[in-house]
Amino acid sequence: MDKFVINGGRPLNGRVEVGGAKNAALAIMPACLLNSGVNKLSNVPEVNDIFTMIKLFKQLGVDGQYDYDNGNLLLDTSHISRFEAPYEHVKKMRASVYVLGPLLARFGKAKVSLPGGCAWGPRPINLHLEAMKKMGASIDIEGGYIVANTSKLKGARIHFDVSSVGATGNALMAATLADGETKISNAAIEPEITSLAQFLVNMGACIEGVGTSTIHIQGKNELNTAFARVIPDRIEAGTLLIAGAITKGKVELVYGAENHIDSVVSKLEDSGLNLFYNNDLISFDANDYEAQSIDVSTSIYPGFPTDMQAQWTALMTLADSTATVTDSIYIDRFKHVPELNRLGANIETNRNSAVIRGVKKLTGAKVMSTDLRASASLVLAGLAAEGTTEVLRIYHLDRGYQRIEEKLKKLGAEIERVPTKEF
Ligand code: EPU
Repeated sequence: MDKFVINGGRPLNGRVEVGGAKNAALAIMPACLLNSGVNKLSNVPEVNDIFTMIKLFKQLGVDGQYDYDNGNLLLDTSHISRFEAPYEHVKKMRASVYVLGPLLARFGKAKVSLPGGCAWGPRPINLHLEAMKKMGASIDIEGGYIVANTSKLKGARIHFDVSSVGATGNALMAATLADGETKISNAAIEPEITSLAQFLVNMGACIEGVGTSTIHIQGKNELNTAFARVIPDRIEAGTLLIAGAITKGKVELVYGAENHIDSVVSKLEDSGLNLFYNNDLISFDANDYEAQSIDVSTSIYPGFPTDMQAQWTALMTLADSTATVTDSIYIDRFKHVPELNRLGANIETNRNSAVIRGVKKLTGAKVMSTDLRASASLVLAGLAAEGTTEVLRIYHLDRGYQRIEEKLKKLGAEIERVPTKEF
């Protein structure tokens, strides 16, 4: 188990490039299960969740080849012989449940372990299951597994009471091979779902309303193999912007999807940071930046992402007065709060909100990662804190950020990855 040792208090300085989006790749990979042959994906980030998905694919009989030099991933889906996502993979990564729709649609059967809760609380998958049922699948729960069967999925009208990225992805993939037309209303419009829909169209799927909350899909008998370049990671982009801001640095971010993080950059601007946009570059000089306390409330896209809530909380610990950060997507995603308080922050949680009273400085300490974005917030706070911060159990961070320490070092951060043994 590795940890980060950070000597904080150094302004970051320089140019850094954003990598491919984990959550976009995790949606596109299962879509390949809908066809038979070799699919090529590029800009696939080298993060552990991708490798968990590759392991799961191997179990299904998919041949995968990942090129570490350029992030190209080849997935050969012509020899799928098993239809099960076992507990050992699903417990590590909930996105494994994405294989349900494609396997059902192409093979008429799937057995997927129920994911259970996650580090910060319950995360149901009822909407995924209801969508499959609407399309005519039988769903049974046996021994902790979803056992799904169908002779052939049928087009259906699916309305999601709650906008869900994963359920929209699953229903969309399943519908591409169903008999007849499917309408999905209140569909998620997160960029990761739009890029999935575009990939499905490249595979020959017939989809109208890509990028909107009402999607019509005309099912096809089969789909072709296809190519996709994974979109840049909006959460990595937001995290790196905050890394520059919290250290009062001077940073140029190479990020080709600026409009995907409008909600984050506009809050940064509200807090007093002057940002400049030029083609693929977002840049700022935060030398004189004194963050103002700005409230945020997370919501579905294009609102402020829940995946940036912990990082925003870290920024607000050093802001000028009091900010309230509310998470309306995951009401209990606040495991980072007690750890930030160990660094000297003054945060109280109240139901699904954190009230952050800005302090003059943070001071280094040992802190524990509990989940992916919580760990990112601790790294950000550690970069700004005086003295040495140790962020333990960074395997959470490695699930979704590709060697973030290398990017931060390139910007002048003093951060080292140190292997540790826990007894
Ligand atoms: N929900 C239900 N029932 C369902 C599914 C979702 O009630 O069947 C609720 C959830 O409890 C939540 C809301 O709907 O309140 C939205 O959840 P959603 O289904 O959109 O989340 P997800 O698909 O499980 C993805 C990302 C998460 C990100 C959320 C929200 C992937 C692989 N994961 O999860 O990413 O937080 O969307 O944007 O795309 C992360 O990267 O750190 C991460 C957790």
